[in-house]
Amino acid sequence: MKLALFASGNGSNVQALIDAVNNGTIKGTIQCLVCDNPKAYVIERAQAAGIDTLVIPPNRCSSRVEWENVILEFLQSHQVDLVILAGFMRIISSTLLNHYPKGIINIHPSLLPAFPGRNSIQDAYDAKVEKTGVTIHYVDEGIDTGEIIAQESLNIQAEWSLELLEEAIHKIEHRLYPKVIQQLIEEFNMKGNME
Ligand code: GRF
Repeated sequence: MKLALFASGNGSNVQALIDAVNNGTIKGTIQCLVCDNPKAYVIERAQAAGIDTLVIPPNRCSSRVEWENVILEFLQSHQVDLVILAGFMRIISSTLLNHYPKGIINIHPSLLPAFPGRNSIQDAYDAKVEKTGVTIHYVDEGIDTGEIIAQESLNIQAEWSLELLEEAIHKIEHRLYPKVIQQLIEEFNMKGNME
């Protein structure tokens, strides 16, 4: 199974996925990384791992369609089967979605549909909810609205700072994402074998 990773920032989830491929938890190959932010630390992580990287801020293209078409060509040149968003802070639209129906997934740091959007960990913390967590879902054109694949919840301890909550969430993400990706690969392989 040929995987593409999309990220915009630090890339701790990308690192967890690189490690999971290297230690055999994920039985697939990371073909390439797409990054929309030239300053993102994740670019260094990909370089260190020898992963071919396309850095493409949308403002380098004349339209969203052109931006997604440049990305699509890059993915096709790597024969990508599954697109994995890991901290990618942009909406994906029909140009890419039509090409990979059920082939683009995302990880989100809350129990969706609660707290969609960019600041979910902080939003859950500020709302003083007892429980939050991590969701892995298929991507559609909405913001964190696609069909849910897996969730894991976490009880927020009253004495936790926001930083402690963030740490606890990332710890779940780094364990859950590799596990769920490997499950999807197995399902995909089974379907492929039955056809
Ligand atoms: C993660 O919390 C992920 O769930 C969210 O963005 C964050 C990215 O963190 N979509 P990192 O860049 O993987 O460290």
